[in-house]
Formats: sequence, C-alpha cells, structure tokens
Amino acid sequence: MGRSLAAPAGSCTNPCVHRGRFPWRRADPQGYLEREADVRSRTARVELQMVKRTETREELRSGRAPAKSALGPRGRGLLGRLFGSERVPPAISRPKEAVSVAIASGKGGTGKSFLATNLAVLLNQQMLRVTLVDCDFGLACNHLLLGVTPKQTLSHLLAGQAQLEDILLTTPSGPQLVPGGSGIMQMADLTDRQLLAFASVLGELASANDVLLLDVGAGIAPQVMLTLLAADHVVVVTQPEIAALTDAYAVIKCCARLRADARFSVVVNRVLSPGHGEKTFEKLREVTRRHVQVELQYLGEIPEDSSVTQRRLNQKPVVLSDPDGATARAIHGIVQRLQQVEVPLARRQVDPDATLESRFREHRLFLG
Ligand SMILES: Nc1ncnc2c1ncn2[C@@H]1O[C@H](COP(=O)(O)OP(=O)(O)OP(=O)(O)O)[C@@H](O)[C@H]1O
Ligand SMILES: [Mg+2]
Repeated sequence: MGRSLAAPAGSCTNPCVHRGRFPWRRADPQGYLEREADVRSRTARVELQMVKRTETREELRSGRAPAKSALGPRGRGLLGRLFGSERVPPAISRPKEAVSVAIASGKGGTGKSFLATNLAVLLNQQMLRVTLVDCDFGLACNHLLLGVTPKQTLSHLLAGQAQLEDILLTTPSGPQLVPGGSGIMQMADLTDRQLLAFASVLGELASANDVLLLDVGAGIAPQVMLTLLAADHVVVVTQPEIAALTDAYAVIKCCARLRADARFSVVVNRVLSPGHGEKTFEKLREVTRRHVQVELQYLGEIPEDSSVTQRRLNQKPVVLSDPDGATARAIHGIVQRLQQVEVPLARRQVDPDATLESRFREHRLFLG
C-alpha cells in the first residue's frame, strides 16, 4: 500500500501561509502542490546524478578523462547527450550468409530428395558453393543419390560424437552434403540442446556457402516446421494427385500462419502430360490466395520418368546421367525460375538478428 500524502483537512498550522508569505498555498491548504513540487525536484536531482554517474563510468571505461566544460558537469552531461558528436553508436556489422532454400512436401515420396540432389548439382555447376543438408534423421537417402557412403552423419553430430568437419562430404557430383541419419532418431525426438546444436550447424554452413538446400521430411511435424520457418525460401514439391495437393496446401497454410513473410514456390513432379503441372499449380494458387493470402510462385513441372529412379549405387543424378533429356531440361528451367524469384540466389548480407541460425533458435521457442 502506498503511503498517503494527504494531511487531515484544515490541519495546516504554518503561520507563513496565513500571513501571505506563500500565497499559492492558500489554494493548497493541504500541501499537495508543495509535496508534488518537492517530489519533482527530488526526481530531477536523482536523474541528474544518474546521468553524471553513467557519464563518468563511460569515460573511465574508454580511458577518456572527463573534459572540463564551462557548462559544469551537469550541463555537459545533458547537452553533451543532445549535441555531442563523441557518442556515435557503434556500426552494426551485417554478416554475409547463404540463401537457404527448404525443399518440402505435404505427402511423403513426392520427389523432394530427387529434386534437392539435382538442384544441388546444377547450382554447383554455376560455380556457387552449395551444401545440401539431409534433414531426415530417420531414413536419410541423399548420400545414396549423390553416391557417397558416410561414416558419420548428422545423428552422430547431434549426439555429440562428431563435429561438422567430420560429417561434411564433398560428393563426386560436386555439391557438399551433410548426410542425415539412418534409422537412428526422428527429428521429432530431438532435445532442445540438440535443436540448438542443429541451429549452430546451420549457422556455420550458412556463413560458408552461397546456397544451402535443406531437404526436410514430409508433413507438418513441429521440427519440420521449424526448418521451414527458418529458411529464406520454401520450395513445395507436389504431384498432380489430389492427396498430394491437399497436403501441400496444409504445409503452406501452417507455415504462412506462423511466419507472415514466408516465401513459397511450387514444383509439380511426375506429370503425365505436358502443361498438366501448371493447371495443378493454378488450383493450389487459387486456394492459397483465397484462404491464406499467400502468393505462390510457379517453378515448373517435371515429367514422369522411370529413368530418374537410381537403381544402383554410384548411379549419377539425372542432370548428369542424361543432361539433354526432358527431365534434366525441366530441372534446368526450375533452377532458372528459382533464380528469378529468389534474388539473389547467392550469398548476401543479413541483419545479425535475421540469420538462419537466429531464426531457427527463435522459432524453436514457439514450437517447443
Ligand atoms: N519424375 C519422376 N518420375 C519417376 N519417378 C520419380 C520422379 N520423381 C521421383 N521419383 C521417384 O519417386 C520416389 C520418391 O522420390 P523421393 O525419395 O525423391 O521422394 P521424397 O519426397 O524425398 O520422399 P520422402 O518423403 O520419403 O523423403 C523415388 O523412387 C524416386 O526415384
Ligand atoms: Mg526424401
């Protein structure tokens, strides 16, 4: 309870008031104005003292001797703050980092890993530093598609048994790969400590690359969403069938609700007749425009092509094994359009609080 400043009515016994020495008191017989003025002047005194102490501390810290001033220490402190040029705020350095592109889908098996590995190869051919991160901790397969056999994977790193340099592989097709785990753990099982370790791996990779491709699991599990929310751009891979389309819409809706500035584009895979991909995309675009107020970008379609399935180890991605075929040409077109919608698809400066790592850390607090 606050102490009452009010004096009992008519209790003013100060003779000065009645003799007219403090005429304003006649209008304030209980002394409210006087007390308020007193409190104000004491507050001002305390503020001045605080300003002075802060100044002296700063001067001591910076090794600067307090300058003599005709204004006196108080005047110098206040006016120095207003007009002084000595205290220029330190320039905020903006780190450079890779553009991060997550490859997502609603339904499983739509062709994310197939597209991610082929995109990685093509971007690497453009002299960009590209790392593909296989964010599947349970049934990772990108190492098979890129023809490498990892000894240790992300699962080892997250268990504290390996460092990033132990697991990072340069593949025969060019891009670097961070292999995911195989049957070891689900991303959903990660502890907060492991999520933080993963965030710092992403940060390290982002600062060393031009493009970071994140092949995430299908669906809207919290940890999948976390990677999608952290990425700069989300490429949703779908198929013309209605189940894949409905699930693609669910991913976009969830992601857009949690991050208003998320950017999405769509690839329609396994298309049976040319042009069917765009018709499929238009349906998805219409629904998301109407219900989520998100504008989707169309990256293109990939035909159904039995030759893309890598049936033996060391079989190269289709953009290398059949570079002039319809499927490889379609993926070339997708890369071009991605470079038009995500400008620049290269390393760029970012605000320190908007890095891939900081976004991952931040979103993890809401999805925990
Ligand atoms: N355009 C295509 N034509 C024919 N087969 C394809 C095509 N795209 C992908 N596939 C095949 O579909 C299967 C699933 O592809 P992929 O593993 O890339 O899907 P995914 O979305 O990564 O699956 P998951 O959700 O399990 O991670 C693979 O056997 C792949 O070879
Ligand atoms: Mg996959």
